Amino acid sequence: MDAKARELAANFDIEKLAGEFYADPYPTYRALRQFEPAKRMPNGSYFLTRYDDLVSVYKNTKLFSSDKKKEFFPKYGASLLYEHHTTSLVFNDPPAHTRVRRLIMGALSPRAIAEMEGELIALVDRLLAKLSAKAEVDLIEDYAAAIPIEVIGNLLGVPREERHPLRGWSLAILGALEPVIGAEAFERGNTAVRDFLAYLETLVARRRERPGNPERDVLTRLIQGEDNGERLSEKELLHNCIFLLNAGHETTTNLIGNGLVALSQNPDQKQRLIENPQLIKTAVEEILRFESSNQFGNRMTTGRVELGGVTMEEGTSLTLCIGAANRDPLQFENPETFDITRNPNRHLAFGSGAHQCAGMALARLEGSVAISRFLQKFPAFALKGSPVRGGRARFRGFSSVPCSIG
Ligand code: HEM
Repeated sequence: MDAKARELAANFDIEKLAGEFYADPYPTYRALRQFEPAKRMPNGSYFLTRYDDLVSVYKNTKLFSSDKKKEFFPKYGASLLYEHHTTSLVFNDPPAHTRVRRLIMGALSPRAIAEMEGELIALVDRLLAKLSAKAEVDLIEDYAAAIPIEVIGNLLGVPREERHPLRGWSLAILGALEPVIGAEAFERGNTAVRDFLAYLETLVARRRERPGNPERDVLTRLIQGEDNGERLSEKELLHNCIFLLNAGHETTTNLIGNGLVALSQNPDQKQRLIENPQLIKTAVEEILRFESSNQFGNRMTTGRVELGGVTMEEGTSLTLCIGAANRDPLQFENPETFDITRNPNRHLAFGSGAHQCAGMALARLEGSVAISRFLQKFPAFALKGSPVRGGRARFRGFSSVPCSIG
């Protein structure tokens, strides 16, 4: 057993992932955590899998930079994709990051989010009513993917009839973040940024002409800035709106899809949640831990450091494997068990430290409402055949989950 795991760890290369890794990366993560927790990749970067190492990196923005200008230039050249990713707050360091984050956090206030709950419930119930009319449904297409797009659309006040292209743009832009991309994926990502920018320019112009209530309307708030005069530049505004739309989208779709699949594959847990709906809060945290929708984060060292027993030079790229850290036995008891009552559950699905997900309250709300109402309405739902994986390593989820709803 050990020999096989050692071999798995020894042969791991993030640029050459095998089909079985996409289906089930956890044996590889386990092997890496045990034998090579800071694994050097052939391209010179390191792949980190231990919980404590990830936390140390997340907590230190000085020594571990999120700025991707150096790293993305060879991948994207002087393209719109490069401009987009290097202007997003997630790929910047303080002080540029702090300024943009403050403005975004101000706009995503707990009040703005709490006020979305009523509309979210109505949206979910409309979707569930539509599902009732079908004998067989696709959990992703017909349900999980339909929710975040409407929620983020509402958040930024994108008129309903203009939302159609958002999902395709978002998938194309995030797809370009995979460890290796071909010319076609690059072109698709670049075209998506161009079209998305052109669309947002018109949306922002309309909102400037007719501002919404800045207490509720996130886009108006981002346009107007803070009372202290802090504002986003036009470029920052447009690219961070794209980022918000993207960040809240595939990740949340996957939270809902991964959750419903994990529950159907663990019938005792599913039954327990149906009988005790108040467990939805800890259940959502366990789904986030067990099948984290965002599996990788990235940082670059700004000086010589020691991590996982390895000394790394300045300018070393790191992949932080959230999926592996979230099953680290030194942090979680029985980490391979899906337990909807797990407590404490200090998972890293939303990252940690200065860049911790700005939309986590919203994601948790969407996950709870979508999963609990689905279970209430269709307690006998069952998978039909095998769910189809999305085929990505960074964003873990399904592209299609056929099921019967009882
Ligand atoms: C299940 C759903 C979600 C997951 C798993 C997730 C995960 C993450 C992670 C891991 C990060 C940290 C990246 C890093 O440190 O490198 C992050 C950052 C971020 N997320 Fe999320 N996210 C989710 C939903 C959302 C939603 C719904 C929104 C917005 C409406 C959002 C907005 C953001 C923003 C703005 C950042 C950047 C924060 C910063 O750099 O300061 N996310 N997210």
